[in-house]
Amino acid sequence: MQGIKIVATGRALPQRIVTNEELSKRVDTTDEWIRTRTGIGQRYICENETCTSLAVRAAEKAMEKAGIGKDQVEAIVVATATSDLAFPSTACMVQKALGFPKELMAFDISAGCSGFLYGLGVARGLLLAGKKEYVLLIGSEQLSRITDFSDRSTCVLFGDGAGAAVISLTEQPYAYRAWADGEAGPLFCPGVGIDGARLHMEGNQVFKFAVKAIAQGVEAILKDTKMSIGEIDFVVCHQANQRIIEHVKKKYEGTKTVFYMNMENYANTSAASIPIALDEMGEKGLLKPGMKMICVGFGAGFTWGSALLTV
Ligand code: ACO
Repeated sequence: MQGIKIVATGRALPQRIVTNEELSKRVDTTDEWIRTRTGIGQRYICENETCTSLAVRAAEKAMEKAGIGKDQVEAIVVATATSDLAFPSTACMVQKALGFPKELMAFDISAGCSGFLYGLGVARGLLLAGKKEYVLLIGSEQLSRITDFSDRSTCVLFGDGAGAAVISLTEQPYAYRAWADGEAGPLFCPGVGIDGARLHMEGNQVFKFAVKAIAQGVEAILKDTKMSIGEIDFVVCHQANQRIIEHVKKKYEGTKTVFYMNMENYANTSAASIPIALDEMGEKGLLKPGMKMICVGFGAGFTWGSALLTV
């Protein structure tokens, strides 16, 4: 099947870094607890930035690296659970801020931390149905707006940030799967018009779901492509928690496949975590032409999805 590839990426983080030590002065926790339970060491938190301004900066960098014209973009799609306004969408504000022409679609998608993975499916559909060559897909989150900084069981987990990717069609190997089960109880945030809405999470339930979702995501892609894990260079999961990924990784011990992790520096940035990771991997020179990676997203809904991408 005709697949998609990532042509270029960009990322944007707020200026302010909040360390575990700093959080331990606000709630009853320690750097050691946070690191051993989650692998997180610090997170970026917005002071002067917003979900939109982060999205704009990440998108600008991805467009610049791609070296394409704004008139070649079929759609701007922003995956976010924390848009500044209920409407208009963050995507429309990115369009305006960066001066994209009017002949394109601009909209947000809501799929929690699976937003970027769902966005890959949406981008492919738009490219197959549309007239232009590229989709600009952004994951942007200002989770600090919905984080209860008096709740130690959640406030240590999240961070703000944005990642963007310019997507095009490709003939290279590709596979895609997505799921949803409508299980809202363990992970939700009250919505529009509700003052002081804060994220609610039952950590243990989310943990169990996440481990199953990653394993299912990886295995489904291997089955669909008749590939073995040894042929996959990287698995890039939503960066929620090191222990979740370590748990899944055990099954693939002894293979060359690298489960990329960077939550130590960013914490969980929801829909932004995978494009931030991809941008960082590109910057470090880890991605060589022809390499194969499986990206796996999972989050509120519950929603989850996986994709095989070729560099
Ligand atoms: N510092 C110190 N102690 C804490 C903290 C903290 N920050 N948070 C909770 N604790 C305490 C609890 O109060 C509890 O104390 P008690 O036994 O006296 O009641 C104890 O630690 C153990 O609590 P658990 O919730 O059982 O701790 P657990 O080992 O399960 O770790 C965690 C909690 C890290 C939240 C884990 O459940 C987890 O990682 N879940 C997945 C969360 C996640 O990744 N969510 C996001 C995924 S989806 C998405 O990205 C939106």
